[in-house]
Amino acid sequence: MDNYEDFISTVSHELRTPLTSIRGFSQTMLASWDKLDDESKKKFLKIIEEQSNRLINLVENMLSVTKLHSEKENLIYKEVSVKPVVEMICSIVKNQYKDKKFNIEINPCSSFILADKDKFQQVMTNLIENAAKYGDENSTITIKTNHCGEYVSIKVINNGIEIKECDYDKIFTKFSRIDNPLTRKVQGSGLGLYITKNLVEKMGGKIFVVSKECENCFEVLMPASNIERQAREKCSQ
Ligand SMILES: Nc1ncnc2c1ncn2[C@@H]1O[C@H](COP(=O)(O)OP(=O)(O)OP(=O)(O)O)[C@@H](O)[C@H]1O
Ligand SMILES: [Mg+2]
Repeated sequence: MDNYEDFISTVSHELRTPLTSIRGFSQTMLASWDKLDDESKKKFLKIIEEQSNRLINLVENMLSVTKLHSEKENLIYKEVSVKPVVEMICSIVKNQYKDKKFNIEINPCSSFILADKDKFQQVMTNLIENAAKYGDENSTITIKTNHCGEYVSIKVINNGIEIKECDYDKIFTKFSRIDNPLTRKVQGSGLGLYITKNLVEKMGGKIFVVSKECENCFEVLMPASNIERQAREKCSQ
């Protein structure tokens, strides 16, 4: 979606849907406060809260998209240890998706990358959140690292509805969501993977998806750091 008018019209549509719903439910509550029982009031407030969260997520994602294309944004590259980043994100995501289990398999010889820490965190948050959001109920999400030439490979794997091969490229583009019953049920702006791919590539990495037999695997390849190279030498001794 490179056309500016298309972009504005999609954004307006994405903003209008939650706003209409917030307005509708607050108007109903104000007009019929005395007639509504507590349970209905709670249900309506829950919808208002959900739709507000949806708006915040959308606005945050749109700010990230704008920053992606700004030349002013400088990335700060440092040695980043993958393990604490992944552990921190899993504990945050677990709070929101309590039915999910997390299996973290960090290869000790493969866990140091050269990256902008904040951006790498944003990348991993998007992928781990997606795995929890689109993963089967009560399922386990696996995050594992390994070496892969000059890169460290980080895989985020979940069980869930398969992503068809013809959608592999599409899901990394702006505002694209796969139309299936699950995606219709959970909220999202369709910007997460677009931002993720752009950030990974800006940091000199690559990202792919492979989905088979209901197992979805997102693989990120990030440039290995010096510590990583030394660790690999030690591991191979
Ligand atoms: N781990 C996954 N398993 C199955 N489908 C996925 C997974 N990750 C992404 N998808 C599919 O790809 C689409 C695009 O994902 P993306 O993260 O870009 O957007 P989103 O999650 O819908 O919204 P948000 O912008 O809030 O992240 C999703 O709507 C979903 O259909
Ligand atoms: Mg997402």
